[in-house]
Amino acid sequence: MKIIVAGTGFVGLTHAAVCSEYGHEVYAYDIDEKKLNAYRSGEAEQINHYVNEPGLAEIIAENKDRYLFFSSDLEGIIEGTDAIFLCLPTPPNVDGSSDLSFYFKAVDHICTLLAKRADTRRIVLINKSTVPIGTARQLERKLHEYNVPNAGVASNPEFLPEGDAVEKSRRPDRVTVGADTDEDFRIIRRIYSQFVNHVRIRYIETTPETAEAIKYVANTLLLTYISFWNGVGARLGETFANIRMEDLKRGVTADNRISTWGSYVSNGAGGSCFGKDIQSLIYQLKSAGQPTDVLQSVYNINEYQKTYLIDRASREAGARFNQKKVALLGLAFKQRTNDMRDASSLKVVETLLARGVSEIRAYDPVATAEAKRFFNPENNHLFEKISYYKSAKEALAGTDMVFISTDWEEFRGLSRTIEQAVKPPFLVIDGRRMIPDYNELTERGYGYIAVGSPYMPPK
Ligand code: UGA
Repeated sequence: MKIIVAGTGFVGLTHAAVCSEYGHEVYAYDIDEKKLNAYRSGEAEQINHYVNEPGLAEIIAENKDRYLFFSSDLEGIIEGTDAIFLCLPTPPNVDGSSDLSFYFKAVDHICTLLAKRADTRRIVLINKSTVPIGTARQLERKLHEYNVPNAGVASNPEFLPEGDAVEKSRRPDRVTVGADTDEDFRIIRRIYSQFVNHVRIRYIETTPETAEAIKYVANTLLLTYISFWNGVGARLGETFANIRMEDLKRGVTADNRISTWGSYVSNGAGGSCFGKDIQSLIYQLKSAGQPTDVLQSVYNINEYQKTYLIDRASREAGARFNQKKVALLGLAFKQRTNDMRDASSLKVVETLLARGVSEIRAYDPVATAEAKRFFNPENNHLFEKISYYKSAKEALAGTDMVFISTDWEEFRGLSRTIEQAVKPPFLVIDGRRMIPDYNELTERGYGYIAVGSPYMPPK
């Protein structure tokens, strides 16, 4: 099959690369030549600068110029194409709705070219990035508007967690395809022939609207699990003495009807999807006059969770932040990624600065370059108070307290590093429950406060 993947961000690039592994002729199209040149180089360092996914650079190096091509010239590649996957960014507007301007700009360009193509074989335009319910139908109207001959639309949302995108693309839990005609289902089945009739992969064919809805329900349900554990499970552990969070989780999730995923309590879920998708779904339902209480609560709990430990530290541990030096460990929204979009650390920094800290000494194994973009002193002079270090130990030096914001493996059991770097009185604020041996810390005079447990004062 000849496939174009329009948009080479995280979703598009991963999809294009994995499709090329199955022997399709794949053209990854983008307007950003700089980015394309980095991908064309096949070099991990250059590729990772844009999309840092384990295994992705290797697939690109292996398949480029054979099955995988990069182009900014849509006109030059569009003839003879069987399918175009649309993987454009759909960022949130201030009111929560999705900004579809990038999407429709690309759609207009594609439709103009498709209307005058010489080869009028059937072509399907497939929405891969998350778009509001009804977008495939809007796309269909565009095709009519431009008089594009012999074209169909489909919705085929992606379900890739960052850091695991290659693995999950190769072995997805399910492939969801929403289309209107047998012809279009057949084309997509040929693209995904390795997944159709697979014993472990559910291949679901449905309407475009259902496929769009599946993505929103799945993501908001996943965030609901997290918010439930944060808003109920963790709250119980923080309120009543002698509740062991890890045992509580094991006891509850032993029931195989209850998901273990999401039971990891934290200072909030971040990333480019959950926050954006739930806000968009709230907007979509509200616009249709529907109540959105459940979704709104899930969203509110998650936002509250990002910084509530700072309030707890003041209330329960009597912490004062004004003119204090704080170490911030972890900037990325989760481990194994440099992505900081919607990361809890953004809110933590904002709150600490508002509380008047004199310095934030930050460390993240991979996200420092990214952090410098988010915390650019040219945009806000308060960001001058942030300095970056090459290890947790260096970041801790000379500080009054530490906030752990990302679940990097190297932060697990951080107590020894803390003891080596700083002397008590010192407060550990743990947004990820990374220090199971906190008793050792409190016995040596350090205070400890974590999501899911009451404050543990120094002994
Ligand atoms: C999420 C979904 O997991 C994917 O299935 C979906 O396709 C993707 O969004 C998307 O819409 O594109 P992702 O944002 O990469 O993937 O990250 P997750 O691994 O789901 O983690 C999201 C956030 O939740 C992270 O901040 C993570 O630390 C947090 N989390 C996760 C918890 O706080 N507790 C948990 O138990 C699990």
